[in-house]
Amino acid sequence: MWVIPREELSSVQKLKKILISPPEISYSDIQYILNYIQPENFFDFRHNHQFESKIAGIVGMPYVLSAQSGTAALHLALKVLGVKTGDTVLCQSMTFVASANPILYERANPVFIDSEPETLNMDPELLEKAIQELFKKGIKPAAIIYVHTFGTPGNADEVMRIGRQYGIPIIEDAAEALGSYYDNTPAGNFGDISVFSFNINKIISTGGGGALCSKNKKYVEKARFLANQAKEQRQHYEHCELGYNYQLNPFAAILGKAQLPKLKHRAEKKRELHRFYFDLFKNLKNIKLIGESHKSRSNFWVNAVIFENYDTYNSMVSLFEAFGVEVKPLWKPMHMQPLYKSYMHYLNGVSENAYRLGLFLPSGSSMTKAQRDQIEYIIKKL
Ligand SMILES: Cc1ncc(COP(=O)(O)O)c(C=O)c1O
Repeated sequence: MWVIPREELSSVQKLKKILISPPEISYSDIQYILNYIQPENFFDFRHNHQFESKIAGIVGMPYVLSAQSGTAALHLALKVLGVKTGDTVLCQSMTFVASANPILYERANPVFIDSEPETLNMDPELLEKAIQELFKKGIKPAAIIYVHTFGTPGNADEVMRIGRQYGIPIIEDAAEALGSYYDNTPAGNFGDISVFSFNINKIISTGGGGALCSKNKKYVEKARFLANQAKEQRQHYEHCELGYNYQLNPFAAILGKAQLPKLKHRAEKKRELHRFYFDLFKNLKNIKLIGESHKSRSNFWVNAVIFENYDTYNSMVSLFEAFGVEVKPLWKPMHMQPLYKSYMHYLNGVSENAYRLGLFLPSGSSMTKAQRDQIEYIIKKL
């Protein structure tokens, strides 16, 4: 294992920790918000509607609901599609737990699908195999939750073809993929419903927030109704269905309006950063940087590498830790999680290998030149 000379350590430890996905709220955002610090703006949902129409413009989906979180939006998506107790929902295994949790909120049964190796998106071949086997057992899945892993769309054509062929609606979990494209079409434009997150670590943030988008007006109307406690349109408070308090707070929507114009620039900065990593890793044969598919253009929300062996993996972990760089393994797949491992899964080993030998890399669009130099210095020691 690599040992860091004492004098190097003391000089680098003075630098600020380099985070994987740091919050990107700037003073101009604060300035924008300050213009709205009046009591009426705290409950003025016109800010939400303006934020929603801007998202609609970016994603090319005509109907959008802003929500309290991406998780809430995913939950609403399942509700709108009528997913109920005992239903089966197909979900990517290599994802953040929030993609799967709403399935259990509805007491439905997840079936986890492994990834293809190029982008770690859902493997369409395994997806089709799972559907065929479920059909043979007389089970028609109620939905497919397809995630653009780390912001990068994979083989969306195939997943959409499968959804159409078997008549299964697709929820596009584009939580990380605002500003990404597949075949020149924005991520979030494909599914029957798509979902975004504006959590603090995302490319655009409202502090905490999400959105549900669709070309189907009825879906978004229903989601809006459920997100507002399923309050019937009456003079008095009348409730016939179980609802939720999932609306985005208007002040968060104001922050979102300040942030959205920065999307393109941030995606370009992140693309540049990916290029920097590509150049650094291209001659290291035992490390693979996860890239795009031939049809996708990623926002490169986070960069990820997979090592061929534990020696290099461990060296990178100790170097990152010593030099004050945040270290995190890639997501532990859902089929390996104590909460989910008893549910059905279709595996090919890709996500388990990515978890065991993969690391996230610092990917903030505001990364400074000094921080880049530091990372370059570390990687050249591998
Ligand atoms: C793939 C994925 N799905 C869903 C979510 C949930 O979004 P939120 O944190 O806004 O609830 C996240 C992120 O946090 C995510 O990365």
